[in-house]
Amino acid sequence: MQYPTLTTQNNHIRQLGINYNSWYVVAGSNEVKTQPLAVTIWNQPIVIYRDSTSKIIALEDRCPHRQVKLSHGQVKGDLIECAYHGWRFNPSGECAEVDYLADNQKLPSCKIRSFPVKEQDGFIWVFPGDEIKAEQVSILGLPEWEHLNYIATVSVINCQAHYSFLIENLMDMYHGHLHQNWQAWADPVLHDLDENNYRIDAHYQAQSYYKIDKICSVSQLFFPALRRLHPEPLDVSYVYPHWVSTLGNDFKIYCLVCPVSATETKAYLIHFTSLNAFWRLHKLPVWFRRFIKDSLFGAAQKLLDGLVRQDVQMIEEEQQAYLQNPERKSYELNRALVSVQRLMRSQVEKG
Ligand code: FES
Ligand SMILES: [Fe+2]
Repeated sequence: MQYPTLTTQNNHIRQLGINYNSWYVVAGSNEVKTQPLAVTIWNQPIVIYRDSTSKIIALEDRCPHRQVKLSHGQVKGDLIECAYHGWRFNPSGECAEVDYLADNQKLPSCKIRSFPVKEQDGFIWVFPGDEIKAEQVSILGLPEWEHLNYIATVSVINCQAHYSFLIENLMDMYHGHLHQNWQAWADPVLHDLDENNYRIDAHYQAQSYYKIDKICSVSQLFFPALRRLHPEPLDVSYVYPHWVSTLGNDFKIYCLVCPVSATETKAYLIHFTSLNAFWRLHKLPVWFRRFIKDSLFGAAQKLLDGLVRQDVQMIEEEQQAYLQNPERKSYELNRALVSVQRLMRSQVEKG
């Protein structure tokens, strides 16, 4: 079936805000240790730390005394202490201790905002919207993170561009052209597109270079000569605000997004290689399977980082071109991107 050339509404989409009532990923679990970590969701500075029980706390990154960043301070038990005068704040954001408080003085009644936060599947998820809606909105699960049959690799994306450029890059599998030297996938054809108010599912048929069906086939990740092109379904989904993809039975990739500002996006790309085909492996003791999983963590690092570098270059050039000439029209052939922009707009209208 032939589709006409499509027009996407670039000019408005690159200024679009976010749906605050969503869970955004601000850090990997392993990044939050004993000291505060500064993160940003859509221009809102947030400080993340672990309390005395290792539970994650997320507060506005602003000391109400003189408006400096709390993330310059230190964690003291369950409290976070500002670097400047040492005021300490509890996990609810209330001022709990001031060492130089005189006997006739009360603690200041100032309170900073605390954010719903969860640690799940290896990442820290923050809800920047209406607190009472947080429990009604589900977090995109990554069941493969703990599953012993999956080998994970994580690559961090930092790009100076609006998040829409990143999502469109990820949903348009025709850009495999860019990655030919990394042999990611080939010859994609978009077959079906399903959409509702929460997600877009684009079903492509493509050719894959990799097949993980024998123990030695993991070495395909390292040796191009071992790879053979073969047809595989390639499904990519925009599950607002994140992205997930499967290529055949062997590969799954997530992109967990943190929109920093209208011109900056951070994201975590998590690649899982499945060991499901190795039924003998599954009979081995759990400790040994855990050892294999942990030892192979990062096996696809070079591939994933290489793909990210190429994508980020294109995405940042798109942003620059947009800033230089916001009125210039672009052309589109992939109908999935029209759906993607429609979902972005409807999500922002929601919250
Ligand atoms: S500015 Fe934070 S304690 Fe004074
Ligand atoms: Fe890409």
